[in-house]
Amino acid sequence: MFSPEGPSLRELAVQALSSVERGYDLLAPKFDHTPFRTPDSVLDAVASALRRMGPFEDGLDLCCGTGAGAEVLTRVCRSSVTGVDFSAGMLAVARERTRSAGPRLSWVRADARALPFGPAFDLVVSFGAFGHFLPRELPGLFSRIHAVLRPGGCFAFPVVAPPRPWSRAYWMLLGFDAVMRVRNAVWRPPFVMYYRAFRLGDVRRELEWAGLRVELYALPEFGLRRDGSPRVRMVVARRAA
Ligand SMILES: C[S@@+](CC[C@H](N)C(=O)[O-])C[C@H]1O[C@@H](n2cnc3c(N)ncnc32)[C@H](O)[C@@H]1O
Repeated sequence: MFSPEGPSLRELAVQALSSVERGYDLLAPKFDHTPFRTPDSVLDAVASALRRMGPFEDGLDLCCGTGAGAEVLTRVCRSSVTGVDFSAGMLAVARERTRSAGPRLSWVRADARALPFGPAFDLVVSFGAFGHFLPRELPGLFSRIHAVLRPGGCFAFPVVAPPRPWSRAYWMLLGFDAVMRVRNAVWRPPFVMYYRAFRLGDVRRELEWAGLRVELYALPEFGLRRDGSPRVRMVVARRAA
């Protein structure tokens, strides 16, 4: 549907009628040929911003998929990089793609809401996955992230400014979320993916509630909106030292 190597419309429909975990297992072999993989422009901009804040030692890519964020971590972490995801299929692709990377890169199958780590990381990143969490799940998720960070460590992720209500993108995302809500009302298992549920103001409040101090950095590579606000920012939520 997206490119000759990408999934067909039928494959996407089957994926969307599965659970999130099973859906990504099915999509995994073709995932890198879809727009769902975080684009290199975003990964590079986050890597540059993190490089200015680093260096870091041990990094975790939360909901790593095929490893887009883990590659960013290999550029800014000196000791180890871990990718965690609950889809065995996505992890298999990540493992295969990075076979030559050596032991400093490891892949762990786990649910982000029940991370099986102690305070082992000084940097946690996540790309393109927050739509899979309901707003009521964020307090638990952020508490777990707080728990896997070392004192002084930070959780960083990019956020794109929401589209204006009169733009095409706004109506497309609204339409997508509406279709997902209908789908989840009539079909089991649910496939949680809502673009408009992750709002910066609410997210900031939840991060602070979990004990993280929040800073926002504009990613200059993406420029400004007409009102002067950044198109893309990086949120950095830091555990107290
Ligand atoms: C859109 S993909 C993003 C993958 C990658 N971070 C990227 O930017 O290309 C979302 C990923 O989140 C994972 N995921 C969703 N919910 C999860 C959860 N509760 N625990 C672990 N992984 C989860 C999915 O399996 C999938 O690999």
